Amino acid sequence: EPHSFIQNSFSSLSVEMESLQKQIDELASFSDTPAPSVTRILYTEKDVLARRYIKNLMGLSGLSVREDAVGNIFGRWDGYEPELSAVATGSHIDAIPYSGKYDGVVGVLGAIEAINVLMRFGFKPRRSLEIILFTSEEPTRFGISCLGSRLLAGIEVLAKALKTTVDAKNGSFLDAARSAGYVKDDNDLSSVFIKKGSYSAFVELHIEQGPILEEEGISIGIVTAIAAPASIKVEFEGNGGHAGAVLMPNRNDAGLAAAELALAVEKHVLESGSVDTVGTVGILELHPGAINSIPSKSHLEIDTRDIDEDRRNTVIENIRQSAIRIAKGRGVRLFEFNVINQDPPALAEKAIIKAVEAASKELNLTHKFMISRAYHDSLFMARVSPMGMIFIPCYKGYSHKPEEYASIEDIANGVKVLAVTLAKLSLT
Ligand code: GLV
Ligand code: MN
Ligand code: MN
Ligand code: MN
Repeated sequence: EPHSFIQNSFSSLSVEMESLQKQIDELASFSDTPAPSVTRILYTEKDVLARRYIKNLMGLSGLSVREDAVGNIFGRWDGYEPELSAVATGSHIDAIPYSGKYDGVVGVLGAIEAINVLMRFGFKPRRSLEIILFTSEEPTRFGISCLGSRLLAGIEVLAKALKTTVDAKNGSFLDAARSAGYVKDDNDLSSVFIKKGSYSAFVELHIEQGPILEEEGISIGIVTAIAAPASIKVEFEGNGGHAGAVLMPNRNDAGLAAAELALAVEKHVLESGSVDTVGTVGILELHPGAINSIPSKSHLEIDTRDIDEDRRNTVIENIRQSAIRIAKGRGVRLFEFNVINQDPPALAEKAIIKAVEAASKELNLTHKFMISRAYHDSLFMARVSPMGMIFIPCYKGYSHKPEEYASIEDIANGVKVLAVTLAKLSLT
């Protein structure tokens, strides 16, 4: 019976650590900023080269490779009952400006290696196993995160909005996608949607992006829930003017309105009463951006998250009230207050949690249940598939900066747990 065949011989599962590390390093070289930082933005030349690199590896592993209209990439290993819904795994390879080389990448290269591990072992999947490289998990270029997985989950308003979405240089999403070889003439993005039930399970391997596993010396984090993110765009407009000539009582400074709102974000977050509430102003731009000109426009992008959706929504509402009050008080216009996304949290599926737990135990790896404070494509895959996530430790919990690091030994542990989890799920 194939199940016991697997269970009885885990000790012989082997990860090729040297080649996996080499792949991680090679992929990191497709970057628009110098090492050790990585910058890989959706549909740029470097992104296209990195995609080609992954498709090539998928091909070398004998997977059949397919891409959808926005460039989600699928690599499939047919099971011996290929008509059953498949078990999927995967993550992203886009990287925000000046970030590191492990976020997302571990869940893509690690998935390919997990498949290799199972193939070398002689495993035969019952359900097909499929690796998904998701397009633009990061919101860098078009302001919306998890673009590929949101579309897979069938979010129609997004498919519609993307037809008129532009980047900071006013380049359209559709043109950018076409330049990378995606979106055919009909501009139809609904072809990306998948049906609920297309996958019997989706499991994502990822670095923790927090310090807990490393601090506690635990090998595997088993995610039970993903916190709920929201992002908000705000624009203030004032009259601007000469920095020397316009006296203080006569100003309506859009920059100061932005500064005041940034502090209000911190205040509302701290007032929530929970350490689980966080808020960040990661983008703050002033126009015209000259030392001797009073800012006539300011642009903020605010990220706020919580494991409790209502509490996070209260923070959003408080930020809105503050923006209105600040605009009034300073005589500037609140030109825009736009909640870009306001996502609900997602729970991992019990059966997948159990499979990851069993895999960790059988591999003699210490494990811990935890929530994900970062969001992931898993948050959206959860809408169309039972979902689970496997975390591995990373150095000091660093992420979204060049110092991000995970040891190849920890990565290999994650790959093994992923391999055994996929094997189990494929046989159920
Ligand atoms: C994704 O990268 C996030 O910000 O959680
Ligand atoms: Mn990230
Ligand atoms: Mn990530
Ligand atoms: Mn992320």
